[in-house]
Parts: sequence; C-alpha cells; structure tokens
Amino acid sequence: MRLQAPAVSSLSLWLLAAAVTAAPPAANYDESKIAPYTLPDPLVCSDGTPVRDPATWRTRRRPEILALLSTQEYGRMPAPPPGLHFEAPRVDSNALGGTATRKQVRILFSDRPGGPSMDLLLYIPKDRPRPAPAFLGLNFYGNHSIHPDPGIDLNTNWMRDNKEFGVANNRATEASRGVRANRWPVERILARGFALATAYYGDIDPDFDDGFKNGAHALWPAPPDAPRPPDAPGAITAWAWGLSRAMDYLQTDPDIDARHVAVMGHSRLGKTSLWAGATDERFAIVISNNSGCGGAALHRRDFGEQIRHITRAFPHWFCPAFSAYVDREAELPFDQHMLIALVAPRPVYIASAEEDRWADPRGEFLAAKAADPVYRLLGTPGLPATDMPPINSPSSGTIGYHIRDGKHDVTDYDWDRYMDFADKHWRAQP
Ligand code: GCU
Repeated sequence: MRLQAPAVSSLSLWLLAAAVTAAPPAANYDESKIAPYTLPDPLVCSDGTPVRDPATWRTRRRPEILALLSTQEYGRMPAPPPGLHFEAPRVDSNALGGTATRKQVRILFSDRPGGPSMDLLLYIPKDRPRPAPAFLGLNFYGNHSIHPDPGIDLNTNWMRDNKEFGVANNRATEASRGVRANRWPVERILARGFALATAYYGDIDPDFDDGFKNGAHALWPAPPDAPRPPDAPGAITAWAWGLSRAMDYLQTDPDIDARHVAVMGHSRLGKTSLWAGATDERFAIVISNNSGCGGAALHRRDFGEQIRHITRAFPHWFCPAFSAYVDREAELPFDQHMLIALVAPRPVYIASAEEDRWADPRGEFLAAKAADPVYRLLGTPGLPATDMPPINSPSSGTIGYHIRDGKHDVTDYDWDRYMDFADKHWRAQP
C-alpha cells in the first residue's frame, strides 16, 4: 500500500497537469485588464500612403484589406464553380395558410452526380407586389428547423447531435421540425413585406474538422502530400461562398428583388455574413448578430473569446496562417473594423447582446465605430453614436448598432431592428 501511494498520487498529478494543459486558456472579463492597443488605420495604405478620397479607397486600400483578410484570417474566396446549376424550384403558392409562396430549390455546386449541393428555402409574401426584397441567412439545424411547416423537406445531411432538437446519430428527425422557429419569425418578416431565404450551413460544409474533404471543400482539393497552403479557405470562407451561390440563384428568381438582399447571420454565421458581405458586393445590406471573435469584435481587445480560444476549439474555421496570431494580436496587419469597412458604403448592422460577454459587445461596438471614417469618406453618415449606446437603444446611420438585453441569441427585437434598418435604407433608395 505504501509503495502504491506515491504511484497513484503522481498519476493524479499527471492527470491534473494533462487536464490543465487541455483546458481552454482563461478569458479576461475585466475591462481594466485590457492592455492599451492601437488599431491599424483603415485609411492608411500599407506603404503609409494616406487615403483621402473614395477612388484611393476603392482602387488601393480596399483591395489591400481584402487581400489581408483573405491571406491571414479566413482564406481566399474560391471562384463560382463552373458546374453550378439549379434544379427547378418546387413551389407551393398557398403556403402558411395562403399568406406566402414557398419555394425549395436545390443549388448544385458541380455537374458531377452526387456532388455537393445546398437546399435553399424561400418564403415570399403574397400581399405585396413582386419582386420582393429579401433577407438571406444560413441556419444551424436545417431548413425544417426554422418553421413547423410540414411542407419543408427534412434535411438528410450530417448534423451535430442534439437531443432537445431531435437530432440523433447525426441526422435530423421529424421531431426536429420547427425547433429553431424562435430565431426565424417567418410570419413577422412576411408581414413587413420581405421575403426570407435560408439554407443549412452544413449543406455547404459540415461543421467539424475532417481535414477539408467534405462539403464544398471537395471542389477545392489541396495539392496532394503538401501542407495546406497558408491561405487555404477555412469553413467561414466556405459558408460565405455558399451564401454567394444562394445569391447566384436569387438573381434568377423573378419573385426576388436581388438588388435588395440583406445577408444576415448569427454567431459563427454572423462572422460568415460579414465575410460574405465583404467579398460579394451584391449583398445590399450586411447584418452581424452576436458574431464576436472573428466577426465584429476587435481582436486587439483582450476581452472574452480570443484567437487562442477560437483557433483551438474551431481550427477548421480559419485559414492556416491565422494561427500565427495566437497571443500576437498586436501583430495583425488588420483588425475587425476593417472587415466591417469592406462593406462600405453599403449599410451594415452590428448587433450585440448584453449577456453575451464571450463575444465582447463593447469590442463589437468599437469595431463598428472604427469603421465609421471609411463610411464618412465615402459620403455616408456612418455610425451616429459616439459612445456605446444604452441597452435597447439602437443607433442607426449607414452603420447600425444595438446592444439588446439578454443572452447570445436571435430575438424578435433583433429582427425588428433589421427590418427597420432595411426599410430606412431601401425606402430612401428604392
Ligand atoms: C462558440 C464560439 C464562438 C461562436 C459560437 C457560435 O461559442 O466560441 O466564436 O460565435 O460558438 O457560433 O455559436
């Protein structure tokens, strides 16, 4: 017994040490502990040339920032696939009690049978003239999860198990219908005259690290027996690419006003909507809901989730080069205000939630504010608020921002603000 005791205790010490090594590094939640930082100036080129006019922004600085984010954070954006095509939409013009037209369209990313594809679900309001302006967003649990409408196809692709949502053995079941309806107020959106288009993000790229083989990644094979290039597209780029393919379809749909499509996303899909809006200027409004680290939040503020956490938990979201910035945020040649600035002069809306401290609400506001000089240079009002607005008091210019009460989520309050924002900009410029 006496001999065994030290062995047991060194084993437990080893286990403790292993657990400590494997534990996610701590996050800071104390404002007073954030080290001072200086943001790169979005209006100064890498060689020091100041950007004093829209043309220099457009022809020099904007492409430079886009290249930095492509090579250092998300990975380069692949071109549209040559084999892209759409199946004929399946239409029910009497959906939701006769108030909407429901369309389901398979978007095929290649002409290879069994190749990757994405199913787009659309609801178009019936009591307004068409084409209708639209919100487009990816969903986390399949199109059937956004509304109990039994006419929505049940997604059959890989999905993260979730007992509460009826997802078992990585597949959705009938019990999954409508489980996320709280985040998609379809009737409310239709009542205000907007169409809604959505697709399951896992159709484009299943959200787990499989070495970049499945989903759309199959279309962009890495060179054999070589490490992934530093700017190889990560999952956020793949999902954003999928949003652009949804836009390719929307441009062909006579019921949709493709010049008025707002791309909206929550959390990792909020990071994605910002990147989609930055890389594809067909998105007329870009909305980030609680996108946090790698989305709207500044990397240089050490508050909540940091690069050290996100690249460890989700190594497949970014390009390989991004990992070099773990605990070296000051060396980033950009910060997330420059991602937001890439949307300029198109309207962009950043939303935070009070209890969503992991996403650093203040860092999201400060990034929106730091994008303001670019918006102003381009002749728009930018973000009116000079300080972070109080809870539930939106500030709305060409940049919109709010922090609502409550947790990390998408609520009717958020949607109402997005629709107000779209009305304001699209009424002014029909
Ligand atoms: C995790 C991750 C966040 C992300 C969120 C989500 O919390 O750390 O960066 O936004 O998942 O997408 O739900």
